[in-house]
Amino acid sequence: MKNFFLFSVLLFAFSVTDVEGAIYRIIVEIGKEVTYDFGEGMFLIKRFTKASSNPQYLFASPDQDGTWTTDGIDKIPSSAHLNWNGTLTFKTISENDVGSYEMPLEPSGIPMAQSLIMFELAGS
Ligand SMILES: *[C@@H]1O[C@H](CO)[C@@H](O)[C@H](O)[C@H]1NC(C)=O
Repeated sequence: MKNFFLFSVLLFAFSVTDVEGAIYRIIVEIGKEVTYDFGEGMFLIKRFTKASSNPQYLFASPDQDGTWTTDGIDKIPSSAHLNWNGTLTFKTISENDVGSYEMPLEPSGIPMAQSLIMFELAGS
């Protein structure tokens, strides 16, 4: 049991220092512009925010209107624009944009999970 605990701690330490599967924290301010470069090839972004209880998706299509979707039909408004090169820009960040962002197209390492990018409010 003691060994298992030690192993868990080591595994955790490894997963947060390794390049893959890392957690990044981006401090955002409501109303400000925010740009984050998810990287080459990341033309699909998934997020969890308070705008929906389901995961929301944004695809770098040429005719984006800033809306995210949970099922390809519903539209959750935002000021986001995702470029083909993986750069995501919010013209003005809103409360509904605060949350966690993931890259479904990122190859996941073993035993690491995929990267998680946390958009957080200053002071929270
Ligand atoms: C990605 O593409 C956009 C639009 O073409 C450009 O403004 C931005 O600088 C590019 N970002 C990178 C990291 O190449």
